[in-house]
Amino acid sequence: MKILVIGRGGREHAIVHSVSKSSKVKEVFVAPGNIGMRKLATLVDINETELEKLAEFAEKEKIDLTIVGPEVPLSLGVVDIFEGKGVKIFGPTKEAAKIETSKEFAKELMKKYKVPTAKYKSFNNFENSYNYVKTQSFPCVIKEDGLRAGKGVTIVYSLEEAEILLKELFEVENKVVIEDFLEGFEFSMIAMVNEDIVIPLELAQDHKRAYDDDKGPNTGGMGCYSPLNKVDKETEKEALEKVFFPMVNGMKKDGIPFKGFLFAGLMKTIEGVKVIEFNARLGDPETQVILPRLQSDFVEVILELLDKKERKLKWDERTTIGVVMAGKDYPNNRSVGAKIEIDESINSILYHMGTKIENGKLVTNGGRVLTVVSFGETLEKAQKNVYNEVNKISCKELMFRKDIGNKGV
Ligand code: AMP
Ligand code: GLY
Repeated sequence: MKILVIGRGGREHAIVHSVSKSSKVKEVFVAPGNIGMRKLATLVDINETELEKLAEFAEKEKIDLTIVGPEVPLSLGVVDIFEGKGVKIFGPTKEAAKIETSKEFAKELMKKYKVPTAKYKSFNNFENSYNYVKTQSFPCVIKEDGLRAGKGVTIVYSLEEAEILLKELFEVENKVVIEDFLEGFEFSMIAMVNEDIVIPLELAQDHKRAYDDDKGPNTGGMGCYSPLNKVDKETEKEALEKVFFPMVNGMKKDGIPFKGFLFAGLMKTIEGVKVIEFNARLGDPETQVILPRLQSDFVEVILELLDKKERKLKWDERTTIGVVMAGKDYPNNRSVGAKIEIDESINSILYHMGTKIENGKLVTNGGRVLTVVSFGETLEKAQKNVYNEVNKISCKELMFRKDIGNKGV
């Protein structure tokens, strides 16, 4: 079989890696991909947003299955275009992807199908938002609407702080959401979905803040581990019953069936599991720690699911942990052109997120640059292994968190 993966980051590198292990697969293409993937896949010079070109490529090459990594092509309707041409693709339609692209759409669905989540209200001007926030307790959460790659969220601790932020936001935004603050253990749960079939993947926990001890700005994610010994099977079951099934059944009923990876950012609160957000895709860096643990054939599972067949997944029992190495000014600025040196003795999985080759040398080319992933019999052992490996990579521009996994110990 021929597989096409759309995207260029660490998540897509992990997808390509997983797909290339499949016994069914002869050739893997990735558009546009990155330099780290070139041993596993043929890089195709088409951007994620060039939807017609992607579909034409898939048609011409007789691609058997396309897997979409990032949200942007989904939000532009890549699945609708592929399916319009009769080309097989795993992902949600533009309409179903609104579960990620519009907070309002997601929140309305949750309300309608009684899925537990934080109370929220959206506003289109400063005065109304300020009057509302005056009546709220603190901390509360202020979010920019739309796609912000996890970066448009601020937890504010006082009315003064809220006032300054709301004023700033309404200078550039026309919609802002104010939400109750949820307290608890945050984790990511992703399921492979086709209408009313839900195949859950193993859980992972992301580390969203830029610096150690959850300090600094929110990012796309600085590191992850899987599985989670702090979330028991009961909680997982609760998430399926109270979150995933009501959502997918509701979407089916509303004529917007979901197909693809459904990602729920969840909080285990004292009142039970609550939804922070949905994404219409795999997580990054969640994928980098989840897929290496998958022992079932990833491609086979997707193809069967597209035929409405469900199978139980097999997992490596060991723990994986992934540490993201990012430019020192991430999430504000990208790092470009800084030389990366990797010691030959490295024996972890290295997923490239933002790198390129310049004058024959590997250099940085993005906000998040690499994910280093190690296995361990326990979380502590995985942690020890991964930091040992991270130290084999030197680049004066890169920073990383030194406490990935601490919350699970
Ligand atoms: P989001 O982009 O909505 O996933 O938010 C990014 C991060 O902000 C989440 O992963 C949480 O850590 C935090 N966050 C968002 N909404 C809330 C909330 N209502 N309560 C507490 N933390 C939140
Ligand atoms: N790591 C969170 C996300 O992919 O949105």
